[in-house]
Amino acid sequence: MGALLGTPLSRVEGAAKVTGTAIYASDPPLPGAEGGPAQAALVTSAIARGRITGFDLSAAQRVPGLLAVFTHRDFAGAVAPVPHLMAGGYVNSGHRPLESDEIAYAGQIVALVVAETTEAADEAAAAVRVAYEAAPAAAGFDSPGAETVKLKDLKAHHEDIRTGNAEAALAASAHRIEARYETPTQHHNPIELFTTRCAWDGDRLTVHEPTRYVGAVQHGLAAQLGLDPAKVRVVSGLLGGHFGSKFALSQHTALVALAARRLERPVSLVPTRRQCFTIANYRPESRHAIHLGADGDGRLTALVHEAEVVTSRFDAFAMEGADVTASLYACPAIRTEERAVRVDRNTPGPMRAPPEVPYLFALESAIDEMAWKLGLDPIELRRRNDTAKDPVSGKPFSSRPLMACFDAGAKAFGWARRVPRPGALRDGPWQIGLGCAASVRPVKIAAATMRVRLAADGSAEIATAHHEIGNGITTLLAMGAADWLGVAVDKVQVRLGDTALPPAGISGGSSTTTCLMNALALGCRQVSRRLADAATAPGAPLAGRPPESLRLTSGTLAGPDGPGLPLAEAVRLVDPQAVEILAEFAPQGGKPDALDALRKGHIGLTLPDDALSWAFGAQFAEVHVHAQTGEIRVPRLTGAFAAGWVLNPLTALSQLKGGMIWGLGSALLEETVRDGPTYRNPDLAEYLVPTCADVGTIEALIVPDPDERVNPLGLKGLGELGVIGVNAAIANAVYHATSHRRRSLPIRVEDMI
Ligand code: MOS
Repeated sequence: MGALLGTPLSRVEGAAKVTGTAIYASDPPLPGAEGGPAQAALVTSAIARGRITGFDLSAAQRVPGLLAVFTHRDFAGAVAPVPHLMAGGYVNSGHRPLESDEIAYAGQIVALVVAETTEAADEAAAAVRVAYEAAPAAAGFDSPGAETVKLKDLKAHHEDIRTGNAEAALAASAHRIEARYETPTQHHNPIELFTTRCAWDGDRLTVHEPTRYVGAVQHGLAAQLGLDPAKVRVVSGLLGGHFGSKFALSQHTALVALAARRLERPVSLVPTRRQCFTIANYRPESRHAIHLGADGDGRLTALVHEAEVVTSRFDAFAMEGADVTASLYACPAIRTEERAVRVDRNTPGPMRAPPEVPYLFALESAIDEMAWKLGLDPIELRRRNDTAKDPVSGKPFSSRPLMACFDAGAKAFGWARRVPRPGALRDGPWQIGLGCAASVRPVKIAAATMRVRLAADGSAEIATAHHEIGNGITTLLAMGAADWLGVAVDKVQVRLGDTALPPAGISGGSSTTTCLMNALALGCRQVSRRLADAATAPGAPLAGRPPESLRLTSGTLAGPDGPGLPLAEAVRLVDPQAVEILAEFAPQGGKPDALDALRKGHIGLTLPDDALSWAFGAQFAEVHVHAQTGEIRVPRLTGAFAAGWVLNPLTALSQLKGGMIWGLGSALLEETVRDGPTYRNPDLAEYLVPTCADVGTIEALIVPDPDERVNPLGLKGLGELGVIGVNAAIANAVYHATSHRRRSLPIRVEDMI
């Protein structure tokens, strides 16, 4: 048993996944469901604003097997209001469907139909006739009635940034770039839909729902329905994808629970793909104005970043990201202003690297534009503006390997063959361009609790109510337990995704590895210490040895001096079966009540106080644009990433490459097309994501980044790093290939000719 952490290991649930035996969150049979659960289907609103004036249920009621059609007439007043998760509550949308006759957005839930079979539920749902009185709806940035608010008026903690006098510095700059950029609405589209299955056992409720925060679903549902949280159990096994969705409590969860209670029978809801576009969250469209000033040496003298994002009318939530763009490069004069535009749509939500994907598209495109203006290599421009400290707060970066990423990436990619002239490289009809961009993401961490059990037979169990979202955390926990408890990795059982386990937080913000592995290290240390104390007590086999010198390694409790004690004997000194502890990890410098907040299902992601800790990357793209048709191909993407200690290079590189492919989609394919208030492509036939035919060579490299300051293990997390900046690298390469600057995503064939 050598050290596993830091070495590549296939994910422990991989074989089950690829052979079809893995149990996903939507899969487990419902408890107590004799004759099977009743099946539910949703009816969603055809109008975007107004009210319901009546229902005609006669056709639905003729469908054999129909059990009930629930509308606001049945459920009004049954679901108490609960704030958004990011505003101190639990929900991912403050809108409560079936609360009243009011329609707040297109595609909101207006009825829940329950029947003996899925087919009957679908047929009856399709037969529900709803009469509406429509009112004008504002659905986008420029719609009449859209309300623009300063972000600081929406979110109490938000501050726009003012460093120096950016306007004066701009006016005095030798070189200036002023440009506007736009990014589209996107939907997460995990293969596993937003299912909910509820079963009551007396006053106890069990909910099976794919989610990345079982605690928020538990406590949110309890608050909505007036239940004791201890009587609500939420189970979420392996997730069939989320990409940032499946966070917090969904609007439909309480409705399914209420239906199950009224019908005295478990109820299962599988919404349609189309409905998942409106009952869940989305990445909001964004608009950016970037003004950059530079001196004759290519040093930035001014940065202005004004950004607007869409949000709903009913939540104090909107994406924000100018804190990252303002702190990326050295610059003496910075001004940011962020605004939210409230429209008649559901609340947006986080989608992988929520702010960085759109905000860095804008900044990293503008930096490229400045490089061309100055006649400088864009990597050289970044080097001249590299900084070891935050230009806004003056705090140091805990590590700053940005240029190391550019250097490693440039070498692997072959950046040296770039000809510094747009349109200079050609292969027959194909115009060839190379582009690059930075990827950065602040490191987040939260509290977590975890049960660590080490048995005398050399097996171990790790249990925490966190989640395997597909990132490989199960594997990392097994590897860590094997290393730190001195047992075989296949003897470690990892249990996740169930509120019956010790509470942990949201699997989000790329924080899963930083939280859980630091919690595991603490738990294993405590187990080891418990054994060492017992083994060194007077009269015990290792009496007289200092307990802190002993470690669990290869089935033995041993120290540098003298013989060790076999693990089985050491465990039996404490308990005949096993030693078990509950580790309670709270990050240094975090809020004092972090563990309490966690036990109540609140969100507790924190950033370090005394330094900026970021993960870094450099993205490189080779783009071919067909001179006649405008077709854009991306034969090659290279990314070099620095994210602290990388615990499993295999799962890390898989995540990074997956993110890069998603970045290709962000640049060229992904967009939810809106026609007024309605989404026009709400299915996987017309919502485009990269397929194998779109993807060329994807190469990801890991750049060493020892960072002892960021957290005890030096972990940064890299779940979202891979997608960031790819869109800008591709847009910059399109410019290099064609001399056409494209500032609005996605870049399509029709934009190129
Ligand atoms: Mo991420 S979308 O902050 O899990």
